[in-house]
Amino acid sequence: MTEEVFISPRKKGKIAIFISGRGSNFMAIHDAILAGKIDSEIALVFSNKEDAPGLKIARERNLGTLFLDPKVYSSREEHEKEIINELRKRDVDLICLAGYMRVLSSSFCNEFKNSIINIHPALLPSFPGLHVQKKAIDWGARFSGATVHFVTADVDMGPIIIQAVVPVLQDDTEDTLSERILKEEHKIYPEAVKLYFEGRLEVKGRRVYIR
Ligand code: GRF
Repeated sequence: MTEEVFISPRKKGKIAIFISGRGSNFMAIHDAILAGKIDSEIALVFSNKEDAPGLKIARERNLGTLFLDPKVYSSREEHEKEIINELRKRDVDLICLAGYMRVLSSSFCNEFKNSIINIHPALLPSFPGLHVQKKAIDWGARFSGATVHFVTADVDMGPIIIQAVVPVLQDDTEDTLSERILKEEHKIYPEAVKLYFEGRLEVKGRRVYIR
């Protein structure tokens, strides 16, 4: 059987960023666009939380925003159906999950296959899930870091695009390690988006080649 190959599109892309909180990764991507490092635009900042601080910042930055309350939909599928409508309306090419705290259904992931990426504050496949900076410290890991990866139905397990390594220091607390990892996140997330729309990401099976 021949392996399926995906090559990211070379274009001025339309990005949707999904957030649930602070939004510092969203800002890092937007700042890179404003600085001319990424030739694409943010078509939408979407949140499942009305009071997400990142949503307020997006409004202040005059970006299109949308909040859809999962509680008013009968199911996750219905909520996602509405999200998909909104994304299609805006011709979104790439969804960047940036602290979006809801798991996407497998049908959503398949609908946007190779078009959803996420940032995770650990070196996957070590420490998937939540509170992973604390888990890395408690485990006694010497190194942790950040991972940008494609999103598949298997949470935190999609093909890896970029990683950054951060040492775990002996006196690290969850906060100090998180802060050191976050600085790296703000570098590698915009870099991954840039590579994506330069048409330089080639996905073959689990592996992502940077061309
Ligand atoms: C980041 O640590 C990211 O890796 C994780 O959630 C956090 C979001 O932070 N997925 P922010 O909202 O981008 O500041």
